[in-house]
Amino acid sequence: MAAYLVSCLLFLFLFLFSSNSPLLARSTHIQCTPTERRALTLLREGFTDPSGRLTSWSREDCCTWEGVECHNRTGRVTKLDLRNPHHLINGDRAAYERSCLGGKINQSLLLLEYLTYLDLSLNDFQGLEIPRFFGELKSLQYLNLSFASFAGEIPPSLGNLSELEYVDLYADSFSSTGPRELRSQSLEWLTHLSSLKHLNLGFSKLNGVAGQWLQMLNMLPSLVDLRLHWCELQGLPLTLPSINFTSLSVLDLSENSFSSVFPQWLFNLTGLTELYLTWDFFSGSIPADFANLETLRVLDLSDNLNLEGQIPGFFGNLSKLEFLDLSANNFHGDIYEFFSGFSSSPNNKLESLDLSANSLSGELPDSLRSVKHLQHLDLSSNSFWGSIPSSIGSLSELRKLDLSYNMMNGTIPESFGQLSWLVDMNLMANSWNGMLKETHFTNLIKLEHVRLTTDPTRSLAIGVSDGWSPPFKLKTIQIENCMLGPSFPLWLQVQNELTSVILRNVGISDTIPGKWFSQMSTQVTYLVLSQNGIRGELPHQLSYPNLNVIDLSYNNFDGPFPSWSTNATDVLLQENSFSGPIPENIGALMPRLQKLYVSRNHLSGRIPLSMCDIEGLNIISLRNNKLSGQLPNCWHRSLVLWGIDISNNSLTGNIPSSFGFLSSLSVLLLSNNNLVGEIPSSLRNCSGLTSVDLGGNKISGSLPLWAQNLSSLFMLRLGSNLFSGNIPDEFCGLQNVHILNLSGNKISGTIPKCIGNLTALVNGKGSDVFEGLIKVVTRGRDPEYSSIEANLNSIELSGNQLTGEIPDEITNLLALRILNLSHNHLSGAIPKSLASLDALTRLNLSYNNLSGSIPFIPRFNDSSIFEGNPLLCGTPLPTKCPLPI
Ligand SMILES: *[C@@H]1O[C@H](CO)[C@@H](O)[C@H](O)[C@H]1NC(C)=O
Ligand SMILES: *[C@@H]1O[C@H](CO)[C@@H](O)[C@H](O)[C@H]1NC(C)=O
Ligand SMILES: *[C@@H]1O[C@H](CO)[C@@H](O)[C@H](O)[C@H]1NC(C)=O
Ligand SMILES: *[C@@H]1O[C@H](CO)[C@@H](O)[C@H](O)[C@H]1NC(C)=O
Ligand SMILES: *[C@@H]1O[C@H](CO)[C@@H](O)[C@H](O)[C@H]1NC(C)=O
Ligand SMILES: *[C@@H]1O[C@H](CO)[C@@H](O)[C@H](O)[C@H]1NC(C)=O
Ligand SMILES: *[C@@H]1O[C@H](CO)[C@@H](O)[C@H](O)[C@H]1NC(C)=O
Ligand SMILES: *[C@@H]1O[C@H](CO)[C@@H](O)[C@H](O)[C@H]1NC(C)=O
Ligand SMILES: *[C@@H]1O[C@H](CO)[C@@H](O)[C@H](O)[C@H]1NC(C)=O
Repeated sequence: MAAYLVSCLLFLFLFLFSSNSPLLARSTHIQCTPTERRALTLLREGFTDPSGRLTSWSREDCCTWEGVECHNRTGRVTKLDLRNPHHLINGDRAAYERSCLGGKINQSLLLLEYLTYLDLSLNDFQGLEIPRFFGELKSLQYLNLSFASFAGEIPPSLGNLSELEYVDLYADSFSSTGPRELRSQSLEWLTHLSSLKHLNLGFSKLNGVAGQWLQMLNMLPSLVDLRLHWCELQGLPLTLPSINFTSLSVLDLSENSFSSVFPQWLFNLTGLTELYLTWDFFSGSIPADFANLETLRVLDLSDNLNLEGQIPGFFGNLSKLEFLDLSANNFHGDIYEFFSGFSSSPNNKLESLDLSANSLSGELPDSLRSVKHLQHLDLSSNSFWGSIPSSIGSLSELRKLDLSYNMMNGTIPESFGQLSWLVDMNLMANSWNGMLKETHFTNLIKLEHVRLTTDPTRSLAIGVSDGWSPPFKLKTIQIENCMLGPSFPLWLQVQNELTSVILRNVGISDTIPGKWFSQMSTQVTYLVLSQNGIRGELPHQLSYPNLNVIDLSYNNFDGPFPSWSTNATDVLLQENSFSGPIPENIGALMPRLQKLYVSRNHLSGRIPLSMCDIEGLNIISLRNNKLSGQLPNCWHRSLVLWGIDISNNSLTGNIPSSFGFLSSLSVLLLSNNNLVGEIPSSLRNCSGLTSVDLGGNKISGSLPLWAQNLSSLFMLRLGSNLFSGNIPDEFCGLQNVHILNLSGNKISGTIPKCIGNLTALVNGKGSDVFEGLIKVVTRGRDPEYSSIEANLNSIELSGNQLTGEIPDEITNLLALRILNLSHNHLSGAIPKSLASLDALTRLNLSYNNLSGSIPFIPRFNDSSIFEGNPLLCGTPLPTKCPLPI
């Protein structure tokens, strides 16, 4: 029994004190020293720590504190890892910011004599200088101050840290106050760091270091990884006396603008695995010496713009190459040689190839099949043509394919359907032909993103059987100008994870599948079904919490205006058959609305007052409906409305004086309604008005004298109203007017002589911007405004009661194209100088009291221009002039 006890105790003893017992660590735990504990406490006191990341920094044993590591026998602090655990790349900003340490760094840090590892990355020190005393942390091997908003001169004292192996001072940051500037006058301090393996000074300003920087780095024989992205380095020496940094494996000199050819020493770095030379403006063709760099895995020569010539074939010999980016250069010719290089090295490992944004052309070679590990292929923005070779089906690992913006005018092969890893296919902006069948999609089980657009001839069709059940669940789809219809395809209706849908001009003339439409409502952000013939009513009273843009324009939708509750900014419903009123509570339903287009429908009723509640509204486009009642008079200063088009409706009452509060108003089109009263003088405050059309109403009173304040006014159309009185001299101050129409009123008096002062009609320049504004408001396709150019540089005063002579000054208007003065009481002779207006192509002076002989202007040889003036004579009128006596 005793022996048994003894053996038990012995066992227990052995168990407790054996070296791998968990209890040992606890019982004989090495605690941190009081000095180091105090040092860390002072350090913490200097920090700001909004999220309380360092609350554990009050326990007795500092070796158990968050981010602190001690030596397992001496208990001395060796490692301080205070990296922010929240990274912004896939996290939320608020959580990241809360978790940032900041403030000061207390010199007590120096008491941690055995500190080998210091990581303060991803914090926000808001421009604090890197403390000079870091140069006394003599055991330090790892220093990471990246993404932490340090600024100022990098202290040269860091050169004392002869143990340093890793220095990462990458000076980008996620701070909301933006990155700070780190700089170094000289890299001399680096030359002492003989153990240095990894150096990242990305975004530090090194523009002062002159040509010596490379020689200094060349003194570091252990350097493996050198990253000097965006350092404003100038001058890359073309030769080096010797190559000492022979261990170099990663070299990133991207975005420094060296503007040279490739330096020869580059090709002696035969251990390179990654080389980044983006945006350094290398020129000429790619030297064959690249073939020496046999160990390269990553080569990024993108964005040099002036790399040119054909892409050579030797890349295929770089048997370790996984990533090759030659995008945004000036390569031209075909890519046969390039791919045949890979066919002769069957063990190539290329995973990612980007040749986008060059001037490459020709057909895609069948040898595409030889890069069989390819996952990403980007050939976009070139001039490739023809069909996709059927060998594409053998790229069995392909995840992302981008052939957008080429001239592909052939077909898509059925072998496409074998790409069972394909997630993202972008074939937009080409001229595809042919028919896509079920076999084109057979194994596309991972497909999530489809973009397929072709030219408007719609010579590509998707012809799958009615009951086809697709193997994929799409997240985004964009198909334009292909034939999908006429019925709403079933395969589309089973896609219930869509967040973005663009099906423009795809020939669907069916009714909308209500179930699909409602199902999408929770997640969809972008919904475009325009230019189809889709019929029927939309589901009412849906809620679209995530929708940004909905475009159902140019279809045959009918039924009421959809009463959807949505935060969408753009709602485009023009050219349909929606009827009934605009919802009274549109302001509450669509509070974030910026652009509302519902022109050419059958809407009736009043314009709701709640429109004035939509603070962000920019454009209201409601022309060609049956809207009636008065325009609401609720417009107020905080609105940013700049375009209103409610022409061709049945509005009554006055133009609301509160329009005068819309200081950003630029385009105001209210023509062809039944508006009465005078133009409110408050409109003079809308000094940014560029286009005003109030024609075809019953507006009366005299012409607005203040119009001359509207120095941007490009178009003023007040025709077919009841305006009376004279044309005021003030109108001659409309310096920018290119279209002036006052026809069909009761305007009397003479044409002011100062009419020759209409500057824009003198020089005719500068109307594109203003035409553009009208087109944005009317969506351009409206027949009346699609050809606004046709009315440019015109003065139309016909059908009034104007008297007196046609002023000679009118011939100053060298850019005038259209002049219509017909149906007035003008008298006197026609100014002979009219002949000098070379731009004038349309003239009408008929039905006045003009007299004398008609000046000879060959292009105006149509008698209708002059008829109805009994006292006029000469060609083209039949009346002969009396011979001079
Ligand atoms: C103590 O640390 C050394 C080196 O850091 C390590 O090799 C050893 O396994 C550690 N011992 C224990 C008990 O963790
Ligand atoms: C470090 O802490 C001590 C003690 O609180 C303080 O006096 C000193 O100003 C601090 N130094 C820095 C740089 O914050
Ligand atoms: C430094 O920290 C950043 C951000 O935490 C990290 O991405 C990077 O890899 C680190 N650098 C080194 C050399 O470990
Ligand atoms: C540390 O570096 C500074 C600046 O480079 C230098 O003045 C100083 O002498 C160095 N100290 C030691 C101990 O090397
Ligand atoms: C490179 O190494 C050679 C031979 O080891 C040495 O003579 C030379 O000084 C070194 N050059 C540089 C720039 O460190
Ligand atoms: C680069 O290598 C070539 C041949 O391998 C050699 O002749 C040349 O001296 C080397 N250049 C440097 C700078 O080491
Ligand atoms: C496709 O485009 C190429 C190059 O523009 C042209 O030579 C070829 O005839 C076109 N093929 C077809 C089928 O239109
Ligand atoms: C609009 O967005 C807010 C959050 O920004 C959300 O609370 C609200 O439900 C959304 N409204 C609609 C109609 O989706
Ligand atoms: C027209 O221009 C002339 C000369 O530039 C100027 O003297 C005159 O005042 C102007 N008339 C009007 C009405 O603006």
